[in-house]
Amino acid sequence: MTTTKPLRLDMNEQIECAFTLASRFYTDPHILEIEKGKIFRKTWQLVGTTMQPCGETSGAKKTIADPETYFTAEVAGEPVLIIRDKQGTLRAFSNVCRHRAGPIALGSGCKNVMRCQYHGWTYTLDGKLIGTPDVDGVEFFDRSTMGMVPLRLETWGDLIFVNFDKGGESLATILGEIPSQARGFDFENLRLAERRDYVIDCNWKVYVDNYLEGYHIPIAHPGLMKEIDYAQYRTDTFRYYSQQFAPIRARKPGDAERAYAPASGGLKEALYFWIFPNLMLNIYPDNFSTNLIVPLSHDKTLTIFEWFFHDTESPAAKDRIAKAVSFSDEVQQEDILLCTNVQKGLNSSTYDRGRYSVKRENGVHHFHMLLREFLEG
Ligand code: FES
Ligand SMILES: [Fe+2]
Repeated sequence: MTTTKPLRLDMNEQIECAFTLASRFYTDPHILEIEKGKIFRKTWQLVGTTMQPCGETSGAKKTIADPETYFTAEVAGEPVLIIRDKQGTLRAFSNVCRHRAGPIALGSGCKNVMRCQYHGWTYTLDGKLIGTPDVDGVEFFDRSTMGMVPLRLETWGDLIFVNFDKGGESLATILGEIPSQARGFDFENLRLAERRDYVIDCNWKVYVDNYLEGYHIPIAHPGLMKEIDYAQYRTDTFRYYSQQFAPIRARKPGDAERAYAPASGGLKEALYFWIFPNLMLNIYPDNFSTNLIVPLSHDKTLTIFEWFFHDTESPAAKDRIAKAVSFSDEVQQEDILLCTNVQKGLNSSTYDRGRYSVKRENGVHHFHMLLREFLEG
Protein backbone atom coordinates (compact mmCIF):
# COMPACT_ATOMS: atom_id res chain seq x y z
CA MET A 1 0.00 0.00 0.00
CA THR A 2 1.64 3.24 -1.07
CA THR A 3 -0.98 5.82 -0.07
CA THR A 4 -0.88 6.20 3.71
CA LYS A 5 -2.62 9.48 4.49
CA PRO A 6 -6.35 9.10 5.21
CA LEU A 7 -8.57 9.29 2.17
CA ARG A 8 -11.02 12.18 1.87
CA LEU A 9 -14.01 11.51 -0.36
CA ASP A 10 -15.49 14.97 0.18
CA MET A 11 -18.97 13.48 -0.03
CA ASN A 12 -21.92 15.58 1.17
CA GLU A 13 -24.60 13.54 2.93
CA GLN A 14 -27.30 15.75 1.40
CA ILE A 15 -27.71 14.52 -2.15
CA GLU A 16 -29.02 17.97 -3.14
CA CYS A 17 -25.66 19.50 -2.21
CA ALA A 18 -23.39 16.59 -3.10
CA PHE A 19 -20.91 16.27 -5.92
CA THR A 20 -20.29 12.78 -7.32
CA LEU A 21 -17.17 10.81 -6.44
CA ALA A 22 -14.01 12.38 -7.88
CA SER A 23 -12.56 10.63 -10.91
CA ARG A 24 -9.31 9.61 -9.20
CA PHE A 25 -11.28 7.11 -7.10
CA TYR A 26 -11.98 5.23 -10.32
CA THR A 27 -8.62 5.66 -12.05
CA ASP A 28 -5.91 5.40 -9.36
CA PRO A 29 -4.53 1.86 -8.88
CA HIS A 30 -3.58 2.67 -5.24
CA ILE A 31 -7.22 3.33 -4.38
CA LEU A 32 -8.10 -0.28 -5.23
CA GLU A 33 -5.39 -1.53 -2.85
CA ILE A 34 -6.92 0.58 -0.08
CA GLU A 35 -10.41 -0.65 -1.00
CA LYS A 36 -9.28 -4.28 -0.74
CA GLY A 37 -8.19 -3.73 2.86
CA LYS A 38 -10.93 -1.36 3.98
CA ILE A 39 -13.91 -2.69 2.02
CA PHE A 40 -13.44 -6.16 0.52
CA ARG A 41 -11.68 -7.61 3.58
CA LYS A 42 -14.18 -5.94 5.95
CA THR A 43 -17.45 -7.11 4.42
CA TRP A 44 -19.28 -10.38 3.78
CA GLN A 45 -18.19 -11.70 0.42
CA LEU A 46 -20.09 -14.33 -1.56
CA VAL A 47 -17.68 -17.22 -2.28
CA GLY A 48 -20.04 -19.85 -3.67
CA THR A 49 -23.14 -21.89 -3.02
CA THR A 50 -23.91 -25.18 -1.33
CA MET A 51 -24.48 -26.55 -4.86
CA GLN A 52 -20.75 -26.20 -5.60
CA PRO A 53 -19.61 -29.50 -7.24
CA CYS A 54 -16.76 -31.27 -5.41
CA GLY A 55 -15.96 -34.16 -7.76
CA GLU A 56 -17.05 -37.70 -6.96
CA THR A 57 -16.22 -40.59 -4.65
CA SER A 58 -17.00 -44.19 -5.57
CA GLY A 59 -19.02 -43.07 -8.57
CA ALA A 60 -21.29 -40.68 -6.60
CA LYS A 61 -21.23 -36.98 -7.53
CA LYS A 62 -20.56 -34.79 -4.50
CA THR A 63 -21.22 -31.17 -3.67
CA ILE A 64 -20.08 -29.02 -0.75
CA ALA A 65 -23.37 -30.03 0.92
CA ASP A 66 -21.79 -33.50 1.46
CA PRO A 67 -19.37 -34.30 4.33
CA GLU A 68 -15.61 -34.30 3.68
CA THR A 69 -15.67 -31.98 0.68
CA TYR A 70 -13.97 -28.70 -0.13
CA PHE A 71 -13.63 -25.96 -2.70
CA THR A 72 -11.30 -23.01 -3.14
CA ALA A 73 -12.15 -19.38 -3.92
CA GLU A 74 -10.65 -15.90 -3.80
CA VAL A 75 -11.68 -12.82 -1.85
CA ALA A 76 -9.94 -9.53 -2.73
CA GLY A 77 -7.04 -11.52 -4.16
CA GLU A 78 -6.77 -13.70 -1.02
CA PRO A 79 -6.91 -17.49 -1.46
CA VAL A 80 -9.76 -19.01 0.54
CA LEU A 81 -10.64 -22.63 1.34
CA ILE A 82 -14.17 -23.78 2.20
CA ILE A 83 -14.44 -27.19 3.90
CA ARG A 84 -17.37 -29.34 5.05
CA ASP A 85 -16.12 -31.72 7.76
CA LYS A 86 -17.29 -35.24 8.56
CA GLN A 87 -19.90 -33.97 11.05
CA GLY A 88 -21.32 -31.57 8.45
CA THR A 89 -19.89 -28.30 9.79
CA LEU A 90 -18.96 -25.83 7.07
CA ARG A 91 -15.83 -23.75 7.72
CA ALA A 92 -13.66 -21.25 5.90
CA PHE A 93 -9.89 -20.90 6.13
CA SER A 94 -7.16 -18.94 4.48
CA ASN A 95 -5.87 -21.26 1.75
CA VAL A 96 -2.29 -20.35 2.64
CA CYS A 97 -0.06 -22.95 4.27
CA ARG A 98 1.63 -22.01 7.55
CA HIS A 99 4.93 -23.40 6.23
CA ARG A 100 5.94 -21.31 3.22
CA ALA A 101 2.59 -19.99 1.98
CA GLY A 102 1.84 -22.77 -0.46
CA PRO A 103 -1.73 -23.53 -1.49
CA ILE A 104 -3.26 -25.99 0.95
CA ALA A 105 -5.79 -27.05 -1.66
CA LEU A 106 -6.41 -26.55 -5.37
CA GLY A 107 -9.79 -26.57 -7.14
CA SER A 108 -12.38 -28.66 -5.33
CA GLY A 109 -12.89 -32.25 -4.27
CA CYS A 110 -13.47 -34.79 -1.50
CA LYS A 111 -10.83 -35.34 1.20
CA ASN A 112 -10.66 -36.40 4.84
CA VAL A 113 -7.47 -34.41 5.52
CA MET A 114 -6.00 -31.41 3.70
CA ARG A 115 -2.42 -31.96 2.50
CA CYS A 116 -0.57 -28.87 1.31
CA GLN A 117 0.18 -29.00 -2.38
CA TYR A 118 3.79 -27.80 -1.85
CA HIS A 119 5.60 -29.93 0.79
CA GLY A 120 2.78 -31.95 2.22
CA TRP A 121 2.04 -30.43 5.62
CA THR A 122 -1.25 -31.94 6.65
CA TYR A 123 -4.25 -30.38 8.39
CA THR A 124 -7.48 -31.85 9.74
CA LEU A 125 -10.71 -30.62 8.17
CA ASP A 126 -11.25 -28.41 11.22
CA GLY A 127 -7.85 -26.81 10.69
CA LYS A 128 -5.36 -28.48 13.08
CA LEU A 129 -1.84 -29.12 11.81
CA ILE A 130 -1.20 -32.85 12.23
CA GLY A 131 1.52 -33.75 9.74
CA THR A 132 4.87 -32.02 9.11
CA PRO A 133 7.24 -34.29 7.18
CA ASP A 134 10.94 -33.89 8.05
CA VAL A 135 10.70 -30.99 10.46
CA ASP A 136 12.31 -32.86 13.38
CA GLY A 137 14.95 -30.74 15.09
CA VAL A 138 13.21 -27.39 14.55
CA GLU A 139 13.46 -25.44 17.82
CA PHE A 140 10.38 -23.94 19.51
CA PHE A 141 8.09 -25.50 16.94
CA ASP A 142 4.58 -25.77 18.32
CA ARG A 143 2.22 -27.47 15.91
CA SER A 144 -0.80 -26.49 17.98
CA THR A 145 -0.27 -22.81 17.09
CA MET A 146 0.24 -23.53 13.40
CA GLY A 147 -3.23 -24.59 12.27
CA MET A 148 -4.96 -23.23 9.18
CA VAL A 149 -6.08 -19.63 9.74
CA PRO A 150 -9.86 -19.65 10.21
CA LEU A 151 -12.14 -17.05 8.63
CA ARG A 152 -15.72 -16.15 9.50
CA LEU A 153 -18.28 -18.02 7.42
CA GLU A 154 -22.05 -17.58 7.37
CA THR A 155 -24.73 -18.77 4.99
CA TRP A 156 -28.08 -17.51 3.83
CA GLY A 157 -30.01 -20.26 2.09
CA ASP A 158 -27.60 -21.79 -0.42
CA LEU A 159 -25.29 -18.78 -0.48
CA ILE A 160 -21.95 -19.07 1.33
CA PHE A 161 -20.29 -15.88 2.56
CA VAL A 162 -16.86 -15.30 4.08
CA ASN A 163 -15.61 -12.29 6.02
CA PHE A 164 -11.93 -11.56 6.72
CA ASP A 165 -12.94 -9.12 9.45
CA LYS A 166 -12.91 -10.81 12.86
CA GLY A 167 -15.29 -8.26 14.36
CA GLY A 168 -18.07 -6.47 12.58
CA GLU A 169 -21.71 -7.21 11.97
CA SER A 170 -23.18 -10.65 11.33
CA LEU A 171 -24.37 -11.53 7.84
CA ALA A 172 -27.96 -11.50 9.13
CA THR A 173 -27.55 -7.90 10.31
CA ILE A 174 -26.15 -6.83 6.96
CA LEU A 175 -28.99 -8.55 5.05
CA GLY A 176 -31.55 -6.74 7.20
CA GLU A 177 -35.10 -7.25 5.92
CA ILE A 178 -34.03 -9.03 2.70
CA PRO A 179 -34.73 -12.60 3.93
CA SER A 180 -38.22 -11.68 5.15
CA GLN A 181 -39.03 -9.74 1.98
CA ALA A 182 -37.89 -12.71 -0.10
CA ARG A 183 -39.66 -15.34 1.96
CA GLY A 184 -42.34 -15.81 -0.73
CA PHE A 185 -39.62 -17.36 -2.88
CA ASP A 186 -38.86 -21.03 -2.38
CA PHE A 187 -35.08 -21.25 -1.80
CA GLU A 188 -35.17 -25.05 -1.40
CA ASN A 189 -33.86 -27.44 -4.05
CA LEU A 190 -32.49 -24.86 -6.44
CA ARG A 191 -30.09 -25.83 -9.19
CA LEU A 192 -27.51 -23.77 -10.99
CA ALA A 193 -28.99 -23.29 -14.46
CA GLU A 194 -26.33 -21.09 -16.06
CA ARG A 195 -23.26 -19.02 -15.31
CA ARG A 196 -21.92 -16.17 -17.46
CA ASP A 197 -18.70 -14.27 -16.79
CA TYR A 198 -18.05 -10.86 -18.33
CA VAL A 199 -14.76 -8.96 -18.05
CA ILE A 200 -15.34 -5.21 -18.42
CA ASP A 201 -12.73 -2.47 -18.94
CA CYS A 202 -13.89 -0.29 -16.08
CA ASN A 203 -13.40 0.23 -12.38
CA TRP A 204 -15.68 -1.95 -10.24
CA LYS A 205 -17.45 1.16 -8.90
CA VAL A 206 -18.37 2.31 -12.41
CA TYR A 207 -20.30 -0.93 -12.83
CA VAL A 208 -21.94 -0.66 -9.39
CA ASP A 209 -22.88 3.01 -9.92
CA ASN A 210 -24.50 2.06 -13.21
CA TYR A 211 -26.44 -0.80 -11.64
CA LEU A 212 -27.76 1.42 -8.87
CA GLU A 213 -29.74 3.83 -11.02
CA GLY A 214 -32.55 3.40 -13.51
CA TYR A 215 -31.91 6.92 -14.80
CA HIS A 216 -30.14 5.57 -17.90
CA ILE A 217 -32.85 3.08 -18.85
CA PRO A 218 -34.87 5.32 -21.24
CA ILE A 219 -31.74 6.22 -23.22
CA ALA A 220 -29.60 3.11 -22.98
CA HIS A 221 -31.95 0.12 -22.63
CA PRO A 222 -34.77 0.33 -25.17
CA GLY A 223 -35.70 -3.34 -24.67
CA LEU A 224 -35.85 -3.04 -20.89
CA MET A 225 -37.78 0.24 -21.15
CA LYS A 226 -40.62 -1.65 -22.88
CA GLU A 227 -40.86 -4.03 -19.91
CA ILE A 228 -41.03 -1.63 -17.00
CA ASP A 229 -43.15 1.23 -15.80
CA TYR A 230 -40.39 3.87 -15.67
CA ALA A 231 -42.58 6.53 -14.02
CA GLN A 232 -42.92 4.25 -10.99
CA TYR A 233 -39.28 3.14 -10.90
CA ARG A 234 -37.71 3.94 -7.55
CA THR A 235 -34.81 3.02 -5.30
CA ASP A 236 -35.10 2.62 -1.52
CA THR A 237 -31.93 2.69 0.54
CA PHE A 238 -31.25 0.82 3.79
CA ARG A 239 -28.23 0.64 6.09
CA TYR A 240 -26.03 -1.66 3.96
CA TYR A 241 -28.18 -2.38 0.92
CA SER A 242 -30.65 -0.83 -1.46
CA GLN A 243 -33.67 -2.09 -3.31
CA GLN A 244 -34.90 -1.06 -6.72
CA PHE A 245 -38.55 -1.25 -7.66
CA ALA A 246 -39.23 -1.65 -11.34
CA PRO A 247 -42.89 -2.56 -11.78
CA ILE A 248 -43.48 -4.71 -14.85
CA ARG A 249 -45.60 -2.78 -17.36
CA ALA A 250 -49.03 -4.26 -17.95
CA ARG A 251 -49.17 -6.25 -21.17
CA LYS A 252 -51.60 -4.72 -23.66
CA PRO A 253 -53.53 -6.85 -26.15
CA GLY A 254 -51.43 -7.31 -29.28
CA ASP A 255 -48.12 -6.68 -27.48
CA ALA A 256 -45.28 -8.83 -28.70
CA GLU A 257 -44.03 -11.54 -26.37
CA ARG A 258 -42.41 -10.02 -23.33
CA ALA A 259 -39.17 -11.02 -21.63
CA TYR A 260 -40.52 -11.14 -18.08
CA ALA A 261 -42.92 -13.96 -17.34
CA PRO A 262 -46.01 -12.93 -15.39
CA ALA A 263 -45.87 -13.74 -11.71
CA SER A 264 -47.59 -16.92 -10.63
CA GLY A 265 -48.12 -17.84 -6.99
CA GLY A 266 -45.66 -17.04 -4.19
CA LEU A 267 -43.72 -13.93 -5.03
CA LYS A 268 -45.80 -11.50 -7.07
CA GLU A 269 -43.07 -9.25 -8.37
CA ALA A 270 -39.35 -9.20 -8.98
CA LEU A 271 -37.10 -8.05 -6.12
CA TYR A 272 -33.79 -6.39 -6.92
CA PHE A 273 -31.29 -5.94 -4.14
CA TRP A 274 -27.78 -4.59 -4.06
CA ILE A 275 -25.73 -5.44 -0.98
CA PHE A 276 -22.68 -3.32 -0.21
CA PRO A 277 -20.20 -3.47 -1.76
CA ASN A 278 -20.40 -5.86 -4.71
CA LEU A 279 -23.37 -8.23 -4.78
CA MET A 280 -26.66 -7.98 -6.60
CA LEU A 281 -29.52 -10.39 -5.91
CA ASN A 282 -32.40 -10.60 -8.36
CA ILE A 283 -35.37 -12.60 -7.14
CA TYR A 284 -38.08 -13.41 -9.70
CA PRO A 285 -41.22 -15.45 -9.18
CA ASP A 286 -39.61 -18.57 -10.69
CA ASN A 287 -35.87 -17.99 -10.41
CA PHE A 288 -33.13 -16.30 -8.53
CA SER A 289 -29.88 -14.85 -9.81
CA THR A 290 -26.73 -13.35 -8.36
CA ASN A 291 -24.33 -10.87 -9.94
CA LEU A 292 -20.99 -10.70 -8.20
CA ILE A 293 -18.69 -7.80 -9.08
CA VAL A 294 -15.00 -8.67 -8.70
CA PRO A 295 -12.29 -6.06 -9.26
CA LEU A 296 -9.41 -7.57 -11.27
CA SER A 297 -7.48 -4.29 -11.39
CA HIS A 298 -8.36 -0.60 -11.03
CA ASP A 299 -9.74 -0.60 -14.59
CA LYS A 300 -10.78 -4.22 -15.15
CA THR A 301 -13.78 -5.86 -13.52
CA LEU A 302 -15.17 -9.37 -13.65
CA THR A 303 -18.92 -9.71 -13.30
CA ILE A 304 -20.21 -13.21 -12.58
CA PHE A 305 -23.89 -13.89 -13.31
CA GLU A 306 -25.46 -17.10 -11.99
CA TRP A 307 -29.07 -18.20 -12.44
CA PHE A 308 -30.78 -20.69 -10.14
CA PHE A 309 -33.99 -22.49 -11.02
CA HIS A 310 -35.87 -25.35 -9.38
CA ASP A 311 -36.34 -27.15 -12.67
CA THR A 312 -33.46 -27.05 -15.13
CA GLU A 313 -34.34 -30.14 -17.16
CA SER A 314 -37.85 -29.92 -18.61
CA PRO A 315 -38.19 -28.40 -22.12
CA ALA A 316 -40.35 -25.55 -20.72
CA ALA A 317 -37.73 -24.79 -18.07
CA LYS A 318 -34.91 -24.87 -20.63
CA ASP A 319 -36.83 -22.40 -22.79
CA ARG A 320 -37.49 -20.13 -19.80
CA ILE A 321 -33.81 -20.23 -18.76
CA ALA A 322 -32.62 -19.47 -22.30
CA LYS A 323 -34.98 -16.46 -22.50
CA ALA A 324 -33.98 -15.12 -19.07
CA VAL A 325 -30.27 -15.45 -19.88
CA SER A 326 -30.56 -13.95 -23.33
CA PHE A 327 -32.56 -10.94 -22.12
CA SER A 328 -30.09 -10.35 -19.30
CA ASP A 329 -27.24 -10.64 -21.81
CA GLU A 330 -28.83 -8.00 -24.06
CA VAL A 331 -29.06 -5.54 -21.14
CA GLN A 332 -25.56 -6.48 -19.94
CA GLN A 333 -24.02 -5.77 -23.38
CA GLU A 334 -25.63 -2.31 -23.32
CA ASP A 335 -24.27 -1.72 -19.80
CA ILE A 336 -20.77 -2.93 -20.78
CA LEU A 337 -20.61 -0.32 -23.52
CA LEU A 338 -21.76 2.41 -21.12
CA CYS A 339 -19.29 1.40 -18.42
CA THR A 340 -16.25 1.18 -20.72
CA ASN A 341 -17.05 4.60 -22.15
CA VAL A 342 -17.56 6.09 -18.68
CA GLN A 343 -14.16 4.73 -17.60
CA LYS A 344 -12.59 6.55 -20.60
CA GLY A 345 -14.47 9.69 -19.60
CA LEU A 346 -13.22 9.44 -16.02
CA ASN A 347 -9.66 9.30 -17.36
CA SER A 348 -10.21 12.52 -19.33
CA SER A 349 -8.41 15.72 -18.31
CA THR A 350 -11.70 17.60 -18.78
CA TYR A 351 -13.67 15.80 -16.05
CA ASP A 352 -13.44 15.50 -12.31
CA ARG A 353 -16.88 15.33 -10.66
CA GLY A 354 -20.53 15.80 -11.54
CA ARG A 355 -23.89 16.16 -9.70
CA TYR A 356 -26.61 13.63 -8.86
CA SER A 357 -30.23 13.51 -9.97
CA VAL A 358 -32.02 13.74 -6.60
CA LYS A 359 -34.99 11.80 -7.98
CA ARG A 360 -33.10 9.08 -9.85
CA GLU A 361 -29.63 8.65 -8.33
CA ASN A 362 -30.22 8.31 -4.59
CA GLY A 363 -28.95 4.70 -4.77
CA VAL A 364 -25.63 5.87 -6.25
CA HIS A 365 -25.29 8.55 -3.57
CA HIS A 366 -26.06 5.97 -0.86
CA PHE A 367 -23.26 3.75 -2.25
CA HIS A 368 -20.84 6.67 -2.24
CA MET A 369 -21.77 7.47 1.38
CA LEU A 370 -20.95 3.87 2.34
CA LEU A 371 -17.64 4.21 0.47
CA ARG A 372 -16.93 7.30 2.53
CA GLU A 373 -17.76 5.48 5.76
CA PHE A 374 -15.47 2.53 4.98
CA LEU A 375 -12.61 4.38 3.30
CA GLU A 376 -12.38 7.34 5.65
CA GLY A 377 -12.96 5.23 8.77
S1 FES B 1 4.17 -24.54 1.88
FE1 FES B 1 2.79 -25.99 2.62
S2 FES B 1 4.00 -27.66 3.13
FE2 FES B 1 5.40 -26.18 2.44
FE1 LIG C 1 -28.14 -0.60 -17.26
